[in-house]
Amino acid sequence: MPGTVLVGSQWGDEGKGKITDLISGDYDYVVRFQGGNNAGHTVITPKHKLALHLIPSGVIYEHITPVIGNGCVIDPKVLLEEMDILEGEGISCERLTISGNAHIIMPYHKDLDGASEKRLGKNLIGTTKRGIGPAYQDKSSRMGLRMQDMLDPHIFREKLEAALPEKNDILEKIYGLPGYTVDQICEEYLPYAERLKPFIAETTVILDNALRAGKNVLFEGAQGTLLDIDFGTYPFVTSSNCSAGGAATGSGVGMKYINRVLGIVKAYITRVGSGPFPTEIPPEEPEGDLLTQIGGEYGVTTGRKRRCGWYDAVIVDYAARVNGLTDLAITKLDVLSSLDSIKVCTAYDCDGTIYHTVPQHQTAFHHAKPIYTEMPGWHVDITGCRSFYELPREAKDYIDFIEDLAGVPVSIIAVGPSREQTIMRHW
Ligand code: GDP
Ligand code: IMO
Ligand code: MG
Repeated sequence: MPGTVLVGSQWGDEGKGKITDLISGDYDYVVRFQGGNNAGHTVITPKHKLALHLIPSGVIYEHITPVIGNGCVIDPKVLLEEMDILEGEGISCERLTISGNAHIIMPYHKDLDGASEKRLGKNLIGTTKRGIGPAYQDKSSRMGLRMQDMLDPHIFREKLEAALPEKNDILEKIYGLPGYTVDQICEEYLPYAERLKPFIAETTVILDNALRAGKNVLFEGAQGTLLDIDFGTYPFVTSSNCSAGGAATGSGVGMKYINRVLGIVKAYITRVGSGPFPTEIPPEEPEGDLLTQIGGEYGVTTGRKRRCGWYDAVIVDYAARVNGLTDLAITKLDVLSSLDSIKVCTAYDCDGTIYHTVPQHQTAFHHAKPIYTEMPGWHVDITGCRSFYELPREAKDYIDFIEDLAGVPVSIIAVGPSREQTIMRHW
């Protein structure tokens, strides 16, 4: 088992939190390797209902060490609030370990995120406005502050003194927004640093030692493959590598330890924010609203209504390839139970050319018209099913069809939000 990557294989919100929680019992470490508090992962247990943004979903298990890897960007205020919420629920954050190389989201990153979206007008990305893009921008341009800079207030101040003049120029001269003083930011951030210091560690050594000792590590992806900065629907993407490759670069764990890549997909598909979405159900068709309502499709982080669409096998085929998926977990099958018939997109017609995989050129993708196979619904409550054989024939056919199209086995089927509402197939 040693290393398993769990990766969103659509546009995020596939149910990664639920599946991470479900399988965490088999692992010793759960690692977030990219993204920040743009993520919202729901975990429902008999005792808790949690919305986790930064802390790995395995935190609720006492045997697990949760790790925030170097590939993440961290808003310290949000992290501390999340730790306080968990502690308030009786969940200890004592074992949390944070890479010193993870970048810090600064106040100006959040301002710049909002200002840049405003300036884009109708072309906006629809970001979560959590400062994610600007923080990764600073990482790439080598202007970022990292968690290790929190270990020494002098260094923190020095790095900020170097970075801030440019940021203030951009805020004030380009966006007409107020800038910051070094003192102002230090006053807010140094107390956060004091609290977070004990959790900052050389996570690559910790994970390497663990793996050498035969421990198991689960890498919990955030966002989804189609939001990946390289493989997603650029520019309508997030700013990190949320596909499986990011697990190695975002944690410092060698590829040789990763032998399973579990792709998480919904039994339909959703997207929050702007960008192309071939199988989006148009407003005049009632199934879109039905999925929103029955599926509770509102963002965990921003509360925005998610756009809903039919299962897109072209996208999952693509995700299977770029992630090297070994198997799939399908969530929210129960949400389809009230539909008379269910569509699955098997190919795109892009201005007369038929594509069975995501077209390389974005113009073609923007013009993609889905080619559907329509399947009968089942009209039976399946939330109590615990084995594949208990599912109605139409639901089994649906899963088999998806499996065939993806070319990888479906190992987990979720039929409700709670832990036990799950069918373990080939686990
Ligand atoms: P994540 O970001 O991938 O972790 O997913 P989110 O937590 O943002 O969104 C998934 C939503 O679906 C959450 O509200 C989950 O509680 C819920 N959920 C997960 N699996 C199932 C399922 O099989 N059935 C139903 N009805 N809800 C589910
Ligand atoms: P989880 O981990 C769904 C989307 C935003 C926007 C784009 C860029 O819960 O699946 P950003 O703030 O990252 O710069 O926004 O990415 N987005 C998500 N959509 N689930 C998420 O996370 C997302 N994180 C970012 O809506 O379209
Ligand atoms: Mg989410």
